[in-house]
Amino acid sequence: MNAKHAAPGTYQSTYDESIRHPETFWAKLAEEIVWTRRWTRVLDDSRKPFYRWFLGGELNTCYNCLDRHVEGGRAEQLALVYDSPLANTVRKFTYRELRDETARCAGALRNLGVRRGDTVIVYMPMVPEAVMAMLACARIGAVHSVVFGGFAAPELAKRIVDAKPRVVISASCGLLPGQAVPYKPMLDQALRIAGAADTPCLILQRPQLAAELTPGRDHDWDEAMAAAQPVECVAVASTDPLYIIYTSGTTGKPKGAVRDHGSHAVALRWSMEAVYDSWPGDVYWAASDIGWVVGHSYIVYGPLLQGCTTILYEGKPVGTPDAGAFWRVCRDHGVNTLFTAPTAFRAIKKEDPRGELVRQYDLRKFRTLFLAGERGDPDTIEWAHRILGTPVIDNWWQTELGWPAISNCMGIEALPVKPGSATKPVPGFDIQILDEGGKRCPRGTVGNLSIKLPLPPGSLYTLWNNEAGFESTYLARYPGYYLSGDAAVEDEDGYYSVMSRIDDIINVAGHRLSTGEMEEILSAHADVAECAVIGAADPLKGQVPVGLVTLKSGVTRSEEAICRELVASVRDHIGPVAAFKDVKVVSRLPKTRSGKVLRVTMRTIADGTTIKIPPTIEDQTVLPEITQALQALGYPRKD
Ligand code: COA
Ligand code: AMP
Repeated sequence: MNAKHAAPGTYQSTYDESIRHPETFWAKLAEEIVWTRRWTRVLDDSRKPFYRWFLGGELNTCYNCLDRHVEGGRAEQLALVYDSPLANTVRKFTYRELRDETARCAGALRNLGVRRGDTVIVYMPMVPEAVMAMLACARIGAVHSVVFGGFAAPELAKRIVDAKPRVVISASCGLLPGQAVPYKPMLDQALRIAGAADTPCLILQRPQLAAELTPGRDHDWDEAMAAAQPVECVAVASTDPLYIIYTSGTTGKPKGAVRDHGSHAVALRWSMEAVYDSWPGDVYWAASDIGWVVGHSYIVYGPLLQGCTTILYEGKPVGTPDAGAFWRVCRDHGVNTLFTAPTAFRAIKKEDPRGELVRQYDLRKFRTLFLAGERGDPDTIEWAHRILGTPVIDNWWQTELGWPAISNCMGIEALPVKPGSATKPVPGFDIQILDEGGKRCPRGTVGNLSIKLPLPPGSLYTLWNNEAGFESTYLARYPGYYLSGDAAVEDEDGYYSVMSRIDDIINVAGHRLSTGEMEEILSAHADVAECAVIGAADPLKGQVPVGLVTLKSGVTRSEEAICRELVASVRDHIGPVAAFKDVKVVSRLPKTRSGKVLRVTMRTIADGTTIKIPPTIEDQTVLPEITQALQALGYPRKD
């Protein structure tokens, strides 16, 4: 039901139903998906704490995204609009065209030997062929793993080692303002590091920068497509893996969250109407990157499962060409719903604080702005609401969960917005804030944001080839619950606010990064004795990483040179996306008497908030030097 017509209390009754009777709740929603064989069991709980949905069912996700709409009367409706101010190009695909291209791409993958169950790495910029590649994998039952283009070769290599792809799909280059970033040398280096240099590669040559292809191993996209026959969708088990998405953990080893076909299709389609109030024929734009979960769920799968038109935008919120870029895209393509990260709006606000550019565009079709990926600060939310005059909806979720777990469900019943809170649990997610002992915290008390099992359809069901890691990372802390890694608080009205991470994950411009991984890289430098990387508050990016290092005794090299090498090393290992630019040498790091580095204390100094000095600190006299070092780096940051 559309929220505009919802009776008060509809949210609560829907939520209660989802928690009390999950099987009937989800079975009803599963009817909206086309199955080639109906499931025999809605929820399989025979292997607790591992749960699976829609056992015995068979379907094809690509069929549900494309073919069913072609057959059901949407063949000539736009499915995908590619808008690239960086390539100065707009390309539009109807559902029929996208289905046909995808079917041919599936044929090309078959010709390269890809079979059902094989993995395929997709390392591509924001081009329509990336969407086709993902859907083509789904079409033949192959498991895709998309890697964000801003990662450096060693990060890509880790994913290649873990996923063992049958084929890698890539492009000659990505585009950034003023430059084409060559992808092929990065891919070649990654394959070498991974010891997989003979993996067949399918390469899209972009006109901005051609790549040299390795004869016998690399295949040109256009030639492979021309030689391929379109292939039909293959029915796969509901519980078969659809994709792996790697995300930062607390170490340098990324975790491959796995999602299945059946439950993913059911949940993602429903989330489009329930959370985003988006319906068949609507135009939906997630301004993110296909390399992130937002891109998977809301550039590709959600909108297409729901029969919407999805926008693929290769550009930035500012500078391509100005801070009116988002409004231009919304006007040109009649966008109804926009989803992006708060950072994008902070960037727009910085350039156009009075929102003058937005008034230059006819945005009558625009209905709602959704923000997620990092904390939505009230200033940004209120500013966006003021300049757009539409609801601005914060929603909380994670790569692991795949779709919003806390949100104002605009398609069920629009609740009053409280800036700073993501509102209430989405039906299906039994959110509970637990204390250290595992008891539910009283309202108003911050605790660990946890979700009572089973997780609803669409969430991860394991880590790729690492079920033990899945259990130990997420399920062991509180038996019967999923541990999110976030700290949160529930207020007196049952609204939830997510405060911070409880681990060493930081969120830089909506990108999830591990400070632990950065510390591993800094520690590997020959001159570094000890190091700490903290996430310091930044008015644009939310957080940025800042490193403090001590040097080994006897090191006499210039500190500046060492710092330059450390910055370069993080960039070379993780990639530019780490945005690691600030590092300083200090004589000592603050520690507890047991030798634990006091990162939280340093963070409070960097943020200019009340300094938290634990009673267990070994020696307080180290703090003035830390304060000075952070000040020299420009912290606390001002607007
Ligand atoms: N390939 C290669 N490099 C990339 C890249 C890609 N796909 N994406 C980003 N980078 C590089 C950038 O060029 C930058 O490099 P630099 O240090 O040489 O300048 C670095 O990675 C950091 O990128 P970013 O954090 O995006 O900063 P930015 O200054 O380029 O842009 C914003 C700032 C706010 C405009 C940008 O972060 C943004 O649009 N954020 C929206 C958030 C978002 O999409 N989040 C996704 C999850 S929803
Ligand atoms: P990712 O897996 O990259 O989507 O990052 C997930 C993490 O981003 C969460 O665990 C939170 O720490 C943070 N996050 C995402 N959305 C929100 C939000 N709406 N409010 C606060 N934090 C958020």
